[in-house]
Amino acid sequence: MNYSRSILRDFENIFLTYTETFLNGDTEFDKNILLKKKHSLLVWRECRQLAEAENFSRRMAAIIEIAGLFHDIGRFAQLRGFNTFVDCKSINHGVLGREVLLKTKMLAALPERDRNIVFTVTKIHNERLLAGNFDGETLLVAKAVRDADKLDIIRVMLTEYAKGKLDGTVILHLEESDNISPRVLAHLKQGENPSIADFKTLTDFKLAQLAWIYDLNFKHSLREFKKREFYEQIASYLPDIPQVNVLCGQMLDYLNTGTAD
Ligand SMILES: [Fe+2]
Repeated sequence: MNYSRSILRDFENIFLTYTETFLNGDTEFDKNILLKKKHSLLVWRECRQLAEAENFSRRMAAIIEIAGLFHDIGRFAQLRGFNTFVDCKSINHGVLGREVLLKTKMLAALPERDRNIVFTVTKIHNERLLAGNFDGETLLVAKAVRDADKLDIIRVMLTEYAKGKLDGTVILHLEESDNISPRVLAHLKQGENPSIADFKTLTDFKLAQLAWIYDLNFKHSLREFKKREFYEQIASYLPDIPQVNVLCGQMLDYLNTGTAD
């Protein structure tokens, strides 16, 4: 398949047509549909930039872009069905996303091999860690989409924190408290990315976003994380308490010395 820009535009139109059907006129609901639509489009852009920076082949770059655009396609049905983005209280939106792609045949124009990569990556993009037996191409696309997704979710959350008045759905209905939940703390101490299912407070979420540096796969992503001053910005919203400061110091050290491939 010749992956021209116009093929990518065709997929963008398919994506836009699908998401449009979810708007129902309820301002609060539509706001979150539009939030995920914008996120998907920006993850697509992040994917394009990452693929360029890392010099991937044209085919791999195109699959990464398409997977980036569709990775959260399950979010729309999740919000409509459950009015939440919390997977553990509703449905795994990665698994749902794969089902949506299968059912709607939105990716019918792709060669089977490439379509299957997008199906798998959509399904697994939100796992805490990439585990399982995946072929090299699937793994590469999954790593790229996960990095792009993280970079854009940080943008989403920083925008939300800056507003002051937080949207319950966007902050995953977390308690606005300085506490760090035990399981989150255990992962952070080990220099690991915590599990979203363990988040109880907004402080958990903010610290976990910093801890995403441990899970970034490409040099480009770590470079962008630094260039956009994500550490400084997220840290400015964290409570100034010893426990948090120790963890932040640990993450800042990694950021200054860490090496992603
Ligand atoms: Fe997602």
